[in-house]
Amino acid sequence: MNTRDRSTTDPARAESLLPGGALGANANMVGPRFAVASASGPYITDTDGNRYVDYVMGAGALILGHQHPAVVDAVIRQAGRTMHQYGALTDVAIELAAQLVDAIPCAERIVFATTGSEATAYSLRMARAVTGRDLIVKFEGGFHGNHDYAGIAVAAPTAADYPTGKPFTAGTPGAVRDTVMVVPYNDLEALDRLVTPVADRVAGIIAEPVQRIIRPLPGFLEGLRSFCDRHGLLLIFDEVVTGFRLSYGGAQGYFGVTPDLAAFGKIIGGGGTLSCVAGRADVVDRTNPRLKGTPRFVYTSGTFHGNPLAAAAGLATLEILRRPGFYEDLADRTRRLSRRLTRVLADHGRQALVATAGSLWQLLHIDRPPECYADLLASDQAANLRLDRALLANGINVIPGLRRFVSPAHSDDHFETTALALDRALP
Ligand SMILES: Cc1ncc(COP(=O)(O)O)c(C=O)c1O
Repeated sequence: MNTRDRSTTDPARAESLLPGGALGANANMVGPRFAVASASGPYITDTDGNRYVDYVMGAGALILGHQHPAVVDAVIRQAGRTMHQYGALTDVAIELAAQLVDAIPCAERIVFATTGSEATAYSLRMARAVTGRDLIVKFEGGFHGNHDYAGIAVAAPTAADYPTGKPFTAGTPGAVRDTVMVVPYNDLEALDRLVTPVADRVAGIIAEPVQRIIRPLPGFLEGLRSFCDRHGLLLIFDEVVTGFRLSYGGAQGYFGVTPDLAAFGKIIGGGGTLSCVAGRADVVDRTNPRLKGTPRFVYTSGTFHGNPLAAAAGLATLEILRRPGFYEDLADRTRRLSRRLTRVLADHGRQALVATAGSLWQLLHIDRPPECYADLLASDQAANLRLDRALLANGINVIPGLRRFVSPAHSDDHFETTALALDRALP
């Protein structure tokens, strides 16, 4: 079939070219299907001219909103200098590494990668290399990207059979399944019971400091730190979302718990493709190319690692995030949105709440903030989905089931539009 005969925006054309007419598993498959023509501030506009208030915000990559002028300018300037350097350094990559080391408590060294998934995979590899152990502990419902180790017990329809979890993809090797231990989030007692007997075979624990929209209970992150210290394993924070979102630097500064390694992505590339592992020098230095050929060496390399376009976008973003009051203002905007939506839910007598953490938010049909994946499973997911569908139909862009992001480009007007859309959606 000659697909070029069709309009570029014809969903059937996308369907014939891309599996499901989509760009990946988290594509929005429930709302109206559209292709984005342009974006600005809090808005995206599709190729038919429909405008949406966007809370997807590049899955959290766009903390400043779409097309922030300082970021766009930095990218254009960098594109005029060099868009790519493989095997060489760039001034922007060195400067970004310096700013990350200044900002992130655990960061003595930085190793750049391209995506959050690569950063978590590299962190796990480093943990296995320095400990000489294979097992990894992850929390049920935690998301760490698209690779095999990350894909165990992510979004299963039923609770895990701890410490075993189901993979989210066909094609996961049995050896990987056997390598990943699954524990319920926020449950130190379960961690102790399930992991202590095999702790001398565990390389590390990987955790999102705020797991999806679930906040850590007081003492939980501290408990992970002391468990790792007791048993000689590495604590790895997946800060791909929380990094530079909960506070400048990330969740580790915000909660006052310092991991050994942390994976960052999204915001540090200012919306471009860039990620990193930050951490202890003795661990991250295992990736030093001078070690190549020795048993100590840990391989990290990629054509786009530390890409200068993304580094320039990241630097422009971090400069704005350092402005006094940035994070207070963002949290305040999110509180205003949350209060407004909570009022609509109450007016309609809904057993639902707006879960928040910093500038993250999500509507859940649940009677108290979730503490673990089982709480999310127990929420009324059909009702959650109906509301998200209605928001989409009323011009509010969200991905059903995923947390949402407020940016400084979202104002009370957008919150009012969102509240009205919710009001219309509720019987
Ligand atoms: C917590 C977390 N870790 C890792 C990833 C994977 O990052 P990427 O999509 O850049 O590979 C994501 C992506 O959303 C994430 O939310």
